[in-house]
Amino acid sequence: MLDVLKKSVPRPIRNAMRRIGHAVLHPGYHSIPDDFGVLRSFSRTSATKKVLTASTRNYRARAEIALDVTSNYPGGDYLEFGAGSLNSFRSFIAAFDLNGLAERFPDSRFYAFDIFGDPDQGSGPPKEERAYFEHWRNPFEVAAPIASLSSYGALKDRCVIVNGYFQDTLTEKLKAEFRNRKIGFVFVDVNIASSYKQVFDFLLDVMKPERIFIEIDEYFEEHKPPIHTLYQDFAAKAKQRYNLDSMYMRNAGAFGALFCLMPAA
Ligand SMILES: C[S@@+](CC[C@H](N)C(=O)[O-])C[C@H]1O[C@@H](n2cnc3c(N)ncnc32)[C@H](O)[C@@H]1O
Repeated sequence: MLDVLKKSVPRPIRNAMRRIGHAVLHPGYHSIPDDFGVLRSFSRTSATKKVLTASTRNYRARAEIALDVTSNYPGGDYLEFGAGSLNSFRSFIAAFDLNGLAERFPDSRFYAFDIFGDPDQGSGPPKEERAYFEHWRNPFEVAAPIASLSSYGALKDRCVIVNGYFQDTLTEKLKAEFRNRKIGFVFVDVNIASSYKQVFDFLLDVMKPERIFIEIDEYFEEHKPPIHTLYQDFAAKAKQRYNLDSMYMRNAGAFGALFCLMPAA
């Protein structure tokens, strides 16, 4: 607690303020304690717990974005590219439910695209990206914890797990399906430039001149080629083909960014 407050505030109020002052981002183990906005020392915290605590904050930012987007939702489907573990995916479904969208948009679905822990499937990864995909190797039930969706009630029946490499799953058939649907929010969390490029090319083929939210997880990270230039190229094409303006809305857990593509006047 700040010294100035220690002296001037009566004890019962001080105790209440101490509790309110804690930014509890996740109960218990992953909470980030602060004293009126000043973070407490982590010097006695293990390296593992530091990593977990810091990444919890990033996931919290994604959850906030899900809440922001669903409180001003244009309708349509949620598409998550790089949905392995279904963490952000579940946050979006919860936020959708909380904002009463299940009833308002009864046709909306939630699409999860990933290899879900199996780098050996389909056409396999390009040779130079094998190490990246090996990093995500996991049993299917860990990479795609479908059982965890049952707690979201009837919304679990609107979830579509699209299992495979994007080069195998983002087919002409799937494009034809999406041209008959509406997209409300796209979250791209795929780490590598080649995967971002495949997703942007797919979106350009299926989107419409309508408002869409799009979150780019690695927007502010250093990459070769940079993800932000791939996004800017995508946004320029969206302007050219659909007369959509890309508006920056907020950052997403340090390195990500949320945009809204809005029809120009
Ligand atoms: C950072 S993880 C996703 C984490 C997830 N969004 C969450 O909420 O925890 C990135 C994922 O992107 C997937 N991915 C990247 N490129 C891909 C591609 N070309 N095809 C399929 N999946 C891909 C990986 O398999 C990996 O699971």
